Amino acid sequence: MSEHAPASERRPSKVAIVGAGSVGATLAYATLMRGAARQVALYDINREKVRAEALDIAHGIQFMPMGEIEGSDDIEVCRGADVVVVTAGAKQQPGQSRLDLAENTVGLVRAIVPELLTVAPDAIVLMVTNPVDVATAAALKVAGLPAQRVFGSGTVLDTSRLRYLLARETGLAVQNLHAYVVGEHGDSEITLWSSAMVGVVPLLDWSTTHAPLLDAEARDRIAGEVVGAAYQIIAGKGATNYAVALAGASIIEAVLRSENRVMSVSSELDDYVGISDVCLSVPTVVGREGIGEKLVPPMTPAEVAGLRASADRIREVLRRLGL
Ligand code: 2OP
Repeated sequence: MSEHAPASERRPSKVAIVGAGSVGATLAYATLMRGAARQVALYDINREKVRAEALDIAHGIQFMPMGEIEGSDDIEVCRGADVVVVTAGAKQQPGQSRLDLAENTVGLVRAIVPELLTVAPDAIVLMVTNPVDVATAAALKVAGLPAQRVFGSGTVLDTSRLRYLLARETGLAVQNLHAYVVGEHGDSEITLWSSAMVGVVPLLDWSTTHAPLLDAEARDRIAGEVVGAAYQIIAGKGATNYAVALAGASIIEAVLRSENRVMSVSSELDDYVGISDVCLSVPTVVGREGIGEKLVPPMTPAEVAGLRASADRIREVLRRLGL
């Protein structure tokens, strides 16, 4: 049914979330809180847990925009979803990198994605499980879907962390900090300083006009804080869940509301500044069909080299896992 059909004929939008752990459950909550979808299905093999999470959220529906949630250990709960989001997977332990989870994640993706597509064959597939770039490549391979329909949350979260820190540094609204983190969602990610803007001022000019804010030392510190953020949070509370869930919900919104928002999601690159055959995050248009155009910002040679190194790092893991 088209989005232009009369309201009475329109089917409610549905998101299926795989995994009722802290990320999946918080994503279900964030999706309903933001009104990003009308129906949320939460699926997990742990029946007690998935039912309890769904029930807890359902009891708050009165205080949200219109919505419904169902939790089940039966894959049927995902039937007909417009977007399926995979959050299930091994938990990153303190000190572990995301890439340490690769083997486990690939096994899970191989098992779950084909099963999901039997009940939601027309869905857009959004991977959140880490390492998300590897998970996205694995999902793309097993799904056999057009590349535009399979992508990962990538560095949308890192970009949001970066903008938060820049907003704090400058005292300006986070919405006025236009800067992207690209590459691996992980240790080799790159902050694109040369295309970053503070309102209408190039960020690299900001330190001369507002000295010494955002000078090279400050930029290194901020980029380091972004890369280290998950480690810091995992050390403190065992997992990250709130910001990643909000990032996921905003990607879902971009799809279901046909927003064509430019987001640093992870998807398969095909000759993007010479990089191919690997899933990585770059600024990408996200809308109802999934992935649209990948935008190429002005980049310094060092930024391009950093992005290529990040691609090599992911490619090496893919090779090792036979992907
Ligand atoms: C995060 O960056 C762990 O990937 C997760 O919060």
